[in-house]
Amino acid sequence: MCGIVAAVAQRDVAPILIAGLKALEYRGYDSAGIAVLDGAHLRRLRAKGKVREVEALYEADPFPGGTGIAHTRWATHGAPSERNAHPHASGRAVVVHNGIIENHAALREALRERGREFASDTDTEVIAHLVDEALAQGKSLREAVREAVGQLHGAYAIAVLDVEAPGVVVGARRGSPLVAGIGIGEHFLASDVQALIQVTRRVIYLEENDLVEIRRESVEVFGMDGTPRQRAEQTSELSSDAVERGEYRHYMQKEIFEQPRAVADTLEGRLGEDGVLPNVFGVDGESLLTRVRGLHIVACGTSYHAGMVAKYWIESLARLPVSVEVASEYRYRDVVVPEDTLFVAISQSGETADTLSALRETARRGYLGTLGICNVPESSLVREADLKLMTRAGPEIGVASTKAFTTQLTALALLALELGRLHGLDETRRRHLTAELKHLPAAIEAALQCEPAIEALAEQFVHRQHALFLGRGAQYPVALEGALKLKEISYIHAEAYPAGELKHGPLALVDEDMPVIAVAPNNAMLDKLKSNLQEVRARGGELYVLAGKDTGMEIDAERGEVIEVPLGGHFVAPVVFTVPLQLLAYHVAVLRGTDVDQPRNLAKSVTVE
Ligand code: AGP
Repeated sequence: MCGIVAAVAQRDVAPILIAGLKALEYRGYDSAGIAVLDGAHLRRLRAKGKVREVEALYEADPFPGGTGIAHTRWATHGAPSERNAHPHASGRAVVVHNGIIENHAALREALRERGREFASDTDTEVIAHLVDEALAQGKSLREAVREAVGQLHGAYAIAVLDVEAPGVVVGARRGSPLVAGIGIGEHFLASDVQALIQVTRRVIYLEENDLVEIRRESVEVFGMDGTPRQRAEQTSELSSDAVERGEYRHYMQKEIFEQPRAVADTLEGRLGEDGVLPNVFGVDGESLLTRVRGLHIVACGTSYHAGMVAKYWIESLARLPVSVEVASEYRYRDVVVPEDTLFVAISQSGETADTLSALRETARRGYLGTLGICNVPESSLVREADLKLMTRAGPEIGVASTKAFTTQLTALALLALELGRLHGLDETRRRHLTAELKHLPAAIEAALQCEPAIEALAEQFVHRQHALFLGRGAQYPVALEGALKLKEISYIHAEAYPAGELKHGPLALVDEDMPVIAVAPNNAMLDKLKSNLQEVRARGGELYVLAGKDTGMEIDAERGEVIEVPLGGHFVAPVVFTVPLQLLAYHVAVLRGTDVDQPRNLAKSVTVE
């Protein structure tokens, strides 16, 4: 979490830093700040709240300066406030930081004993003091940063400037992303290339334990031992359209409507007539997937829900046992790994701290291999997994995952089909499922046509405090995802249950104030689900059913409603039924007037434990 931008240029950099921070707000948005050097004169602006607060301060009193660092924060140590906002300064050193310094308490104690006084509650401030101490001993900024980071435990990306050395910024990364941008006579650093496309597409993705020094005329990369490192320059293909909101009111709405395209892109060039094309999982993919005798899927949040759907698919199509677990639990558990188990990590960002740590645990746990399913090609997850399968959702800006989820499901459907082929799924069924998958973008397009009905339905939820979501089979994780969407952007408390569990407890919650949303495709579980829904009706509950065609559902208009959703086929139905649930959460949030794209207390990329 947290976003970093830095620049060294001939022109004034404050507007570039502020525009870059806005592009990074998805990483955190509880406070922000910039520090700019004009010669050796330092200007620092910090404010609680969003980047626009800092922008307003700057616009009220603009200042020049060609060297600067900037930060948008998601608080870990110390409440969101101006004094805890970055950049943090100590003497000559000014620092922005993303991540967590795990040994900050011990470092702070030692620094205090050496006479240092602290101006914030953050872990970051220790870095400023350590760098300042080294500068005071006559070290260069690069040497001072190298010495300071040598004392840090934890995960971080930082950018540092020295008030007495305008024209240079030093960055370092360990466990959090950092990319250098290459301009003509100007250079930049950022947590994500999105912050840089306003100024350049030429980038260098820094690797673990890289130290980087940017000046107007150069970008140099070093190892933590101080020796130079070669890093290839790349051209980012990110289009500015991809990170602009266009005609849509919110990024989330845009991203919901981008799903047919995103899913089509994820399928592009990967499906033949009877299944997945060769080498989609890389040249070693087939031999590894043939040997697999079970899977452990690990992820967080929405990505975890995608993994739960995959369990139903893979067990049914490939007859392989699958366990799915949230990464924050998995990494600390004494996991039993049966022989020939494949570890699958799912992450939109590829930088989620818990998921990455789980992946790193696999080396000593004895897996057959690892597969990363991810949306960001340059991410740590993609670099570190043996096999990779990219989702091609494009940048997702809204904090609530939408197209990232449906493209993850699409990638996992490919995995299930391929495992099926290698583990005995007959050709006729494979061909049928392949055709269904090819039709998925059109099925999602059809599901989007439910929007007017869902928008009207959203009115019923505006003043609610609670909601219950029900599903059965692979629609149970879809119900979980629907509940997560509603709670994270509308702040309505929502829970999801497998419908069969209702009478084992949650039924006690059902009364006229508890709307119940059921996901009911016309499948083998429909009659069972109908019985569960009768239990709700009998207790006076309000039922809102997203139903497949011809389910024969009828509901008293006073006590609920049935909205028909085009199924798109039984295999892909979990993807299709996700769409109206996303739309429901979106429209409820809009009616409640919440900050849809940047809901309170959250951040898009959770790079801390
Ligand atoms: C859901 O809308 C959230 N964005 C969140 O649950 C997210 O899925 C989770 O933090 C995992 O992120 P990742 O996919 O980038 O690892």
